[in-house]
Amino acid sequence: MREALERPGLISLAAGFTDNPSLPVAETRVIIKDLLKGNKGPSRLQYGTTYGDEPLRKLTAQRLDRMDGCPKQAKGYDPDRFLITHGSQQLLYILNEILFDPGDIVLVEDPSYFVYLGIMQSHGVLGKGIRMEPDGLDLLSLETTLETLKKSGELARLKALYLVSYHSNPTGITTCAAKKEAALKILKGYEKSAGHPIYLIEDAAYRELSFSDKDTPSALSSHNASNRVIYTSTYSKPFATGIRVGYGFLPEPLFTTAARVKGNHDFGTANFLQQILSSAVESGSYEEHVQKLRKRYASKARAMTRACKKHFPEKVKWENPEGGLYLWVNLPKKVKTGLRSKLFIEALKQKVLYVPGNLCYCDDATRRKPNHQMRLSFGSASIKHIEEGISRLGRAIKRVM
Ligand SMILES: Cc1ncc(COP(=O)(O)O)c(C=O)c1O
Repeated sequence: MREALERPGLISLAAGFTDNPSLPVAETRVIIKDLLKGNKGPSRLQYGTTYGDEPLRKLTAQRLDRMDGCPKQAKGYDPDRFLITHGSQQLLYILNEILFDPGDIVLVEDPSYFVYLGIMQSHGVLGKGIRMEPDGLDLLSLETTLETLKKSGELARLKALYLVSYHSNPTGITTCAAKKEAALKILKGYEKSAGHPIYLIEDAAYRELSFSDKDTPSALSSHNASNRVIYTSTYSKPFATGIRVGYGFLPEPLFTTAARVKGNHDFGTANFLQQILSSAVESGSYEEHVQKLRKRYASKARAMTRACKKHFPEKVKWENPEGGLYLWVNLPKKVKTGLRSKLFIEALKQKVLYVPGNLCYCDDATRRKPNHQMRLSFGSASIKHIEEGISRLGRAIKRVM
């Protein structure tokens, strides 16, 4: 962000911002006017509860029921187990605070969401990278890592597996339901040796930004969930990132603990913002907006991959994203992409910015951090800037190669 401000004309394909022109300005204006109409105004502008707006918790539970295909006659997800937070980012932070002590270990995708790695680092929590396959987590890598921890006597420090399970940041990979189910079973098998529960933190931030109608049930709906799944998600990416409303479904006793810590942080998520979301979900304008947004990102993703095909050398590889905001690009191993690399410096000269891939890997001494990848975002740049940005990046790559 600093680079973008300091260098006018720089095209940033780095920040995970969302698409400016499609933010729901008109919809939000109508909602706010209605929220403050008549004598309803004061209660809208009062404190809310720590847990979150009741109608929003109910609507969130119903949406998750639908997404996970819970039959109508079944009880479905209990709205009382939903905690509304200031973005899902706040919940991820709170979870670190309540679950982990310095020196604890969390398994993460290799590579993973770098801001989450930052939270772990700030709590002194150590990461172990689990390899990824096109359909998600590599189960063999998970088992091997768990066995190694058991043999080295470190299993007692292992507390959780953190998985960005839908259109992952940074790789775009979705972990299929069967793998989530298998991962839960594997983790359960090590709980006795660990001496405590091992949780699966399922971060579903990009679930609603799928480019097709294909969805994958969450780990919560797995037969093996048994109070071990913490599901976090957000209304911010699919609606408006500035309306910082996220949520989580937590098993007890974590729900109560997280709510207490949340109360200490802020007494609850901004009441007014939650009611904006509540109204949008209830009236259907949220759903309408998400449908438009999915098409918009799909076309931006296509513009980016088309431009990559045109401007990148043949040896540069990527998978076409099926949702989310990111393209994960693999360069030949000898082409380094880090902040001090020739390529990064050349890219800056060409006035284009990317996220170096090595920032997305946790510090895991059992392997070298790969340093030949980059994360590109098609979220905030316009199609024109995406095309121009990729053309500049292609020029930089060719110069360095
Ligand atoms: C994987 C992932 N999880 C969580 C978040 C947090 O988003 P928010 O706080 O807007 O819900 C982000 C934001 O970029 C993300 O990429």
